[in-house]
Amino acid sequence: MGKNIVQKIIESHLVSGRMIPGEEIAISIDQTLTQDSTGTMAYLQFEAMGVPRVRTKKSVAYIDHNTLQTGFENADDHKYIQTVAAKYGIYFSRPGNGICHQVHLERFGRPGWTLLGSDSHTPTAGGIGMLAIGAGGLDVAVAMAGGPYYFTMPKVCRVWLKGKLQPWVSAKDIILELLRRLTVKGGVGKIMEYAGEGVATLTVPERATIANMGAELGATTSIFPSDEVTRAFMRAQGREHEWIPLEADPDAQYDEEIEIDLSKLEPLVAQPHSPDNVDTVRNVGPIKVDQVAIGSCTNSSYLDLMRVAKILKGKTVHPDVSLVISPGSKQVYTMLARNGALADLIAAGARILECACGPCIGMGQAPATNAVSVRTFNRNFYGRSGTPSAKVYLTSPEVAAATALTGVLTDPRTLGEYPDVEMPETFEINDNCIIPPPPEGTPVEVVRGPNIKPFPVNKELPDTVEGIVLLKMEDNITTDHIMPSNAKLLPYRSNIPYLADYCLTLVDKDFPERARKAGGGFLVAGHNYGQGSSREHAALVPLYLGIKGVIAKSFARIHMANLINSGILPLTFVDERDYDDIDQDDRLVIENAIEQIKQGNVLIVKNITKNKEIKVGLNLSPRLKEVILAGGLLNYTRKNSGK
Ligand code: F3S
Repeated sequence: MGKNIVQKIIESHLVSGRMIPGEEIAISIDQTLTQDSTGTMAYLQFEAMGVPRVRTKKSVAYIDHNTLQTGFENADDHKYIQTVAAKYGIYFSRPGNGICHQVHLERFGRPGWTLLGSDSHTPTAGGIGMLAIGAGGLDVAVAMAGGPYYFTMPKVCRVWLKGKLQPWVSAKDIILELLRRLTVKGGVGKIMEYAGEGVATLTVPERATIANMGAELGATTSIFPSDEVTRAFMRAQGREHEWIPLEADPDAQYDEEIEIDLSKLEPLVAQPHSPDNVDTVRNVGPIKVDQVAIGSCTNSSYLDLMRVAKILKGKTVHPDVSLVISPGSKQVYTMLARNGALADLIAAGARILECACGPCIGMGQAPATNAVSVRTFNRNFYGRSGTPSAKVYLTSPEVAAATALTGVLTDPRTLGEYPDVEMPETFEINDNCIIPPPPEGTPVEVVRGPNIKPFPVNKELPDTVEGIVLLKMEDNITTDHIMPSNAKLLPYRSNIPYLADYCLTLVDKDFPERARKAGGGFLVAGHNYGQGSSREHAALVPLYLGIKGVIAKSFARIHMANLINSGILPLTFVDERDYDDIDQDDRLVIENAIEQIKQGNVLIVKNITKNKEIKVGLNLSPRLKEVILAGGLLNYTRKNSGK
């Protein structure tokens, strides 16, 4: 029987397990990436493993999230990452070189290889035919140490693209259409594999936009074939020798199939406060807009910004709109500068930011109170912009540029002739902001400023797990709710005690104090708990506050892995109606926890306050059960390596 692309790559990297959906498998990892927000923790954890040098084919440390230097903290973190990268054999992408996923696509991504990144949008590299998965920092640290990556074999969903996009309709609209149909939970437990004649009509950066926002579907990753379009992109990047063809066999089997007719799509918009709250721009209508932000790892490629420049050329941004643009990489920025497009953007009144995540991570450009912000980003969760009362809409660069000119949400088809942009035959290649590691054995001192604090490590699971319910939450709680990430907090990402004062305060401002007073306890939540970023801090900070378990209707994949890695029990209601009978301050006890976990996949939780027993699921592989019993992955790894 023929194989699909996912099966081909997994088979060639399989370390253990069978490729049957739902079964745990382990694959070898060719490349890793970290960004600074999660990287400090990943490297602290890597150091704790005592391995002298990374064992991947290539590992890259990017600085792109927290590039503002309003105090010593960020600069200290950058210095730590730069020196730790040099010591352990890791490439270092300097601040200013660009957003990790954009740069990785340009300079490092390789079809047929595996990539593990401590960022939830790592799947962006699926646009170049890589099996690229986002994970917590500790999983990435284990991969850097040469360990395989364990995960549940997902189902493979074939997304068949037919037809061709109409003028003014873009790759962003394809993924917004999928979000509209499938919702933010629709890709959970799946890999989206793209196929069909429509694929050949999309450039690699356009494919990357789609793969990028597969993360918002909750998918494990997304992948495109590697074809002549991929080859041309790699040739233009001076890397044709790294290209291989990759496509599904004609008789390949898929677990699910979905079809999109590209020619029928029109400009779409995700409305506040969820990426799946999608409607057509036409239906939403001309709402007044205060800010337009163009950039992020979703839409900051050369093609994206050239189209924006052509739309803005010779015109002026509406007086009520603040337009900010962040080029995705130094390569993109340089090319726009050389060909004059940058001058067109500046002349129109755009504010050009540095090549970094910027406003996407709440790092500057927070909108005004109650403002409407139209962004080309991938997330519009409540509070992520830095202004809780702001309303964020997600669109394509074309819609964003048209909106910047008119001051109201605008269907760009009203602008007239479409400014087509050709893919360049060569990109400007200058890797002088990517510092390769010195040869092995070169002495390097790792510099640790005062902002680098030790991270919490759990203890072995006790036999009686007991505590009160510290907080009961609804569905779709994001990692931004659990551990907000904004300009004020990001500088403290390597300082867990400081961050603890802000844990879950977007849900309940008294939570940290209550958790401290109670000495920890349980959290209760609805469906899709922990959706959003790969932020390990959303598990490490609750661990620091003494959280022993989270009982939810369901979990987002990466967050669940982060909870397990921290030794926090991720428990699911066997009967969802039990959610209604559990309240804040109820005292819960799990007796004989160790035996219960070893024996089966269902545990009994006694609710002492309500005098009731409920069943919760802990359906983990034998290995993950060992991780939980050891009190997390670091303890487990140390135990098994005799350290
Ligand atoms: Fe950065 Fe936003 Fe992407 S924070 S990595 S641009 S999702």
